[in-house]
Amino acid sequence: MRDPNPQPVLLKDYAPPPYLIDRVELDVDVREPWATVHARLAVRRNPGSKDTGRTLVLDGEHIELLSVAIDGRALAASEYKVDAQNLRLESVPDAFTLETRVRFDPWKNTRLEGFYATKDGLFTQCEAQGFRCITYFVDRPDVMAKYLVTLHADKERFPRLLANGNLVASGDEEGARHWARWEDPFPKPCYLYAMVAAKLDLLEGSFTTRSGKNALLQVYVEPGKVDQAGFTLHALKKAMQWDESVFGLELDLDRFMIVAVGDFNMGAMENKGLNIFNTKYVLARPDTATDMDYYLIDRVVAHEYFHNWTGNRVTCRDWFQLSLKEGLTVFRDQEYGADEYSRAVARIQDVRKLREVQFAEDAGPMAHPVRPDTYVEINNFYTPTVYDKGAEVVRMIHTIIGKAAFRRGMDLYFERHDGQAVTCDDFVRAMEDAAKVDLTQFRRWYSQSGTPVVACRGEYDATAQKYTLTVKQSCPPTAGQPEKLPFHIPMAVGLVAADGADMALRLEGEPRAQGTNRVLDVREAEQRFVFVDVPSMPVPSLLRGFSAPVVLRSDWSDADLTHLMAYDSDAFNRWEAGDVLATRIILAGVKAIQAGNVPEIPAAYIDAIGRVLVNAARDPAFAAECLALPAESFLAEQMDVADPDAIHVMRKRVIRILATRYRTRFEGAFRHFSVPGAYSPDAGAAGRRALRNAALAYLMELDDSTARALTFLEYRRAENMTDTMAALQCLANSSGAERERALGMFFEKWKDEALVVDKWFRVQATSELAGAIDRVQALLKHPAFTLANPNRARSLLFAFARANPVHFHAADGSGYRFVAEQVVALDALNPQIASGLARSFDRWKKYDAARQGHARAALESIRTRDALSNDVREVVDRALA
Ligand code: PHE
Ligand code: ZN
Repeated sequence: MRDPNPQPVLLKDYAPPPYLIDRVELDVDVREPWATVHARLAVRRNPGSKDTGRTLVLDGEHIELLSVAIDGRALAASEYKVDAQNLRLESVPDAFTLETRVRFDPWKNTRLEGFYATKDGLFTQCEAQGFRCITYFVDRPDVMAKYLVTLHADKERFPRLLANGNLVASGDEEGARHWARWEDPFPKPCYLYAMVAAKLDLLEGSFTTRSGKNALLQVYVEPGKVDQAGFTLHALKKAMQWDESVFGLELDLDRFMIVAVGDFNMGAMENKGLNIFNTKYVLARPDTATDMDYYLIDRVVAHEYFHNWTGNRVTCRDWFQLSLKEGLTVFRDQEYGADEYSRAVARIQDVRKLREVQFAEDAGPMAHPVRPDTYVEINNFYTPTVYDKGAEVVRMIHTIIGKAAFRRGMDLYFERHDGQAVTCDDFVRAMEDAAKVDLTQFRRWYSQSGTPVVACRGEYDATAQKYTLTVKQSCPPTAGQPEKLPFHIPMAVGLVAADGADMALRLEGEPRAQGTNRVLDVREAEQRFVFVDVPSMPVPSLLRGFSAPVVLRSDWSDADLTHLMAYDSDAFNRWEAGDVLATRIILAGVKAIQAGNVPEIPAAYIDAIGRVLVNAARDPAFAAECLALPAESFLAEQMDVADPDAIHVMRKRVIRILATRYRTRFEGAFRHFSVPGAYSPDAGAAGRRALRNAALAYLMELDDSTARALTFLEYRRAENMTDTMAALQCLANSSGAERERALGMFFEKWKDEALVVDKWFRVQATSELAGAIDRVQALLKHPAFTLANPNRARSLLFAFARANPVHFHAADGSGYRFVAEQVVALDALNPQIASGLARSFDRWKKYDAARQGHARAALESIRTRDALSNDVREVVDRALA
């Protein structure tokens, strides 16, 4: 039962816990339908707490209390109070052993939080507050304990019994059962607790750390799928190697386990020594997983492994500090991706996602700072802001102080805080002290929400040979924050000459030029930077590498942008120039369409794309990024009143014009960039496939019989999932007969491979063909569909609501009504997933009055339900506020 009237939790109310728990012994007995948990906790007063009361309040939800004892003496029911959230004990001693026994039914746990059953066994998910669904505990990250855990279960049904740390003993017991005892040598917050009782297959490997320790590596997957676990093991070893060489961080355990489970709310979880992963980020075989799947597995495996230091050894004091571990760990997995693949392409993809998703969040009702100061339901704050903007904030520190100082800052951070639960501010202080810089103003990135706007204007004075760059920053008001102070923005810039070369950069007052690429410290609301010795009029290359998470406005002409597309030495900005130009053209076209005129596409842009194709062989992956037009959701954000229909029409028109103009070149690229030999997901091969499939998508936009035949042939001859899906996606948007044939063949072939079936649902849910809602509604009734599995729900419902804007925003409101109904249906099973779907309504105020009316009605229809979860209620209340 949820609290019917939840109070927001405030950062300013933080106080240390009055009691600490140093040691936890758990005995967990699995006997369907019950899991019975006997806990022995070593409790003592916290000398660091000012609270002098003698009341111990423990958290516990969805569990049935069977008994309580203090120092071996059983308490009578009159000696404690228990309700749906807490167990309260009055007048407790200064130090004592608390024993509780509880039970609950993991087979009825559809929330997938705490300890829950799936088809292959039982798994835990404790972050953020799931441990309280397993036993009574002080469920907050600043309470850290050492754990000893004994699991008992039926041997035949649950042959694997796992928990954090090292296996210390195991054996058989009566009734065809067995047991295993695990000890974790490191103190940890309870959100990192994990246990598994399941039937799983195992792939093993080993890794010798640079100090010579040999660690056992294990990847557990559902029976019959070990042939899909190899890449994950490989990725784990690469990540271990990388963290040693880049940050000097070694594995601190004798054994590191990854367990894959098909029913999982998130991507993966960094439980100490026993990571639990969504199968989506573990299982891969060339014929079942795309290049993007492989890439994401690599990044997520690294992310969870990196948490062992950034998150586990040093953890968060409270949940407001979530970005301390998540922002930093995303930054680390981004850098790992950049080193392992193409730095430029990785950056382009990360920035695209940041701008499509996080910028929209920052402009909407759920806007919050990287370090939020209030929440109702913490599960709603695992957001793009905390993760991805948080990573940008860490990246900016890296940019400001430089790589060497950043490394010293990391070393100092571990030296000071190993074994502690700390704050974002502790991290910044370590960086400040190591680099000897003042980051006082920079800290506003943690406390102010909203995306800053940086407007740049350049003026060239030929006589004085000076170039003056005027930079103005502002930040729009956001929920709860009407006014903002200026940010400290590191802005990387260069000046590109008419011949394409970078100019030497010397600021007024400096004795000599300092390179051709430098970082300006923007700190004021308005600031000028005067470059001297500038021999001719340059084109400024601004915010190179996207050096700060801001909206950049500049007065570039179309010709300036095509110049940067051709010559900028910064690869990110070469791509960015094309993206800015494409955005400009599409938005102008949208205006023309709205006014009943025929949109125009400047020849300079068409020529520039032609050059991308001619030069594609230099870097196919980069060329593929340049060919991908800005997403419809991103374009919608650029308008005062978004017009999803006109955006869709105009974006497609640009694609069709390019496809018509360059048909031969696209056909040539499609043939030329084939990848012979055995499949490999490496950056080179994946880049060639990305380009080839981008070419195919352009050709299929013509949707004529030649293109359809080519695509259908490709669909049938494809030997890997990357090419298969690329072709299938084109066909799913096509009106030809090939569509149904390919979709039918695909399902028949893959109906037993859950992750591939997800792809089949997704490709249909995102189809732009008319009648999308009816098809999605029919798919809801498909025997393979279930709301109970988060991946499946995401593949149909989230895909429709987030990645099919033209149909989700249908003018008659049918998309909104449909999604609102599904939010309610999901909420009864799994509030976390339901609230994620409810967030599809975040930007409803961006649309016209008629759509707003439909969206408001849909949101209100959710809100009027009783028994709504806190998760969904918080999202809907904020959307309607
Ligand atoms: N901490 C996990 C990660 O980012 C995400 C997660 C949060 C997983 C909450 C489960 C529950 O690596
Ligand atoms: Zn994480």
